[in-house]
Amino acid sequence: MVEGMTDLSDFIRGLPKAELHLHIEGSLEPEQMFEFARRNRLALPFKSVEEVRAAYAFSNLQDFLDIYYQGAGVLMTEADFHDLAMAYFRRVAADGCRHVELFFDPQTHTDRGLPFRVAIEGLLSGMAEAERTLGVSSSLILCFLRHLDEDAALATLKAAEPWLDRLLGVGLDSSEVGHPPSKFAKVFAAARQRGLKLVAHAGEEGPPAYVWEALDLLKVDRIDHGNRALEDPALVQRLAAEGMTLTVCPLSNLKLCVVDDLANHPLKRMLDLGLRATLNSDDPAYFGGYLGANWTATAQALALSRDDLVTLAKNSFTGSFLPADRIEAHLAEIDAYAR
Ligand code: HPA
Ligand code: ZN
Repeated sequence: MVEGMTDLSDFIRGLPKAELHLHIEGSLEPEQMFEFARRNRLALPFKSVEEVRAAYAFSNLQDFLDIYYQGAGVLMTEADFHDLAMAYFRRVAADGCRHVELFFDPQTHTDRGLPFRVAIEGLLSGMAEAERTLGVSSSLILCFLRHLDEDAALATLKAAEPWLDRLLGVGLDSSEVGHPPSKFAKVFAAARQRGLKLVAHAGEEGPPAYVWEALDLLKVDRIDHGNRALEDPALVQRLAAEGMTLTVCPLSNLKLCVVDDLANHPLKRMLDLGLRATLNSDDPAYFGGYLGANWTATAQALALSRDDLVTLAKNSFTGSFLPADRIEAHLAEIDAYAR
């Protein structure tokens, strides 16, 4: 175990790491919500930042999603998306994050009338500035909303056509139970044909069968969350044998009641089972902490060793979609730091 809270936070801050599960709309802080509402002349159903924070008490994923989609309604211009991204990158740069593969939900914005280009151009411009000024590299994953139908996802992939060379991949998020991966087999096949990487949320609230479907029907390169895979030993064996990365989000799991206590979080068990688990923040403005806070709280609650933390840092790069030479360079940096 790493001794002392300050030692632990300092060790974690200095450890080079990547974030592989971050919804940029989930980095919208209440203060920013008021700022964007003001500049876009929109009314909010909240009177104060405190009132917004008080509303962030969730008993499941859907509770959160309802307020998350409502919050995203203040994002109107490319500048809003640019500023949202830069605010996030400033925070994770301070947490020792070197690389981010971030999600965005274009349908959340096109369905309320924004042209497709607004979110993606604003985000790409924020990402370029973050790389230039903070030294944090990043790439973008377009998520389909699984509570909508596959035709809507196909239309979204078509709308993304002009930006395909600037997209890393596609993902699948929103309400999981009742919306299995099989519902999106066609659009994932189309994305694969276009050379995009494939990821999907599976096994956050949904059963192990959804994780099997993500692997076998969607042919994903990474599983987001994957907690409930642990209920199925054959699935655990498959994930370990394939070296499949799981993007695990402990504070999110706590806030959405996927786990009852951080001390009972399965992350340590995943590592002990030989799974390539990574540590991420999911929707940091809603779940009580950015990347560093997730690392520190989890390390404390699970009494993670320095070796565990180094493994998690390495997993965050080996599980990324960076080119092999850049992964090697980050791993060498971690080794140098740990020594
Ligand atoms: N799960 C599913 N959909 C989401 C999440 C999540 O944790 N965050 C934002 N959209
Ligand atoms: Zn997520």
